Amino acid sequence: MPRIVAPSMLSADFGHLDRDTRMVGRSAAEWIHIDVMDGVFVPNISFGFPVLKAIRKASDKCLDVHLMIVEPERYVERFVEAGADIVTFHYEAARDIPACINLIRKAGARVGISVKPATPVEVLRDILPLVDMVLVMSVEPGFGGQAFIPASLQKIADLRAMVRRQGLDTLIEVDGGISARNAGAVFAAGADVVVAGSSVFGAADPEAEIVRMLEA
Ligand code: DX5
Ligand code: ZN
Repeated sequence: MPRIVAPSMLSADFGHLDRDTRMVGRSAAEWIHIDVMDGVFVPNISFGFPVLKAIRKASDKCLDVHLMIVEPERYVERFVEAGADIVTFHYEAARDIPACINLIRKAGARVGISVKPATPVEVLRDILPLVDMVLVMSVEPGFGGQAFIPASLQKIADLRAMVRRQGLDTLIEVDGGISARNAGAVFAAGADVVVAGSSVFGAADPEAEIVRMLEA
């Protein structure tokens, strides 16, 4: 199964956003993960459209936008306009999940749905055929630099089994607390894509850390 690493720009140096985006551009990471937080769905505020547009200008990579916002249906089209290739919203945040999925698709992006650590993957059973990706949060959303929740491994395996049983090719992405130390276990449990913020941008050699994660 092909592995993908998606460095999270939440841990980049915003004084050197262009430099850090181009570093990821040169690296073996195929995607760039972009965390949007509204201060309501999560107790933190990150950034929005102008920052996404700046990253889009500096990169041809797949821009994987993770919306941690309430009422995502109000904004998903604008995130696609601003450059998102994939828009992921939270199961816990949307009022009308099928409508939100349709808005993202109509705007021309791939669709992801995310679950927080306390939300069982079983709630996604009937939604799975409608989305391209499920994002399993392996920390409480809101901040980088937290420890990976070990129970996430079983959740990933359960989701992988559910995807297989339904005969789908839904991607599984895992986000939070991932480094070269545990990326191997996360991929082995069934993940296709791992997000990594602090481990990549905190590394002495971020490009080498990305390679170590791919080879873990
Ligand atoms: C957390 C975000 C993550 C975060 C991951 O709410 O969704 O994408 O940037 O950061 P690390 O890899 O440091 O846990
Ligand atoms: Zn994220």
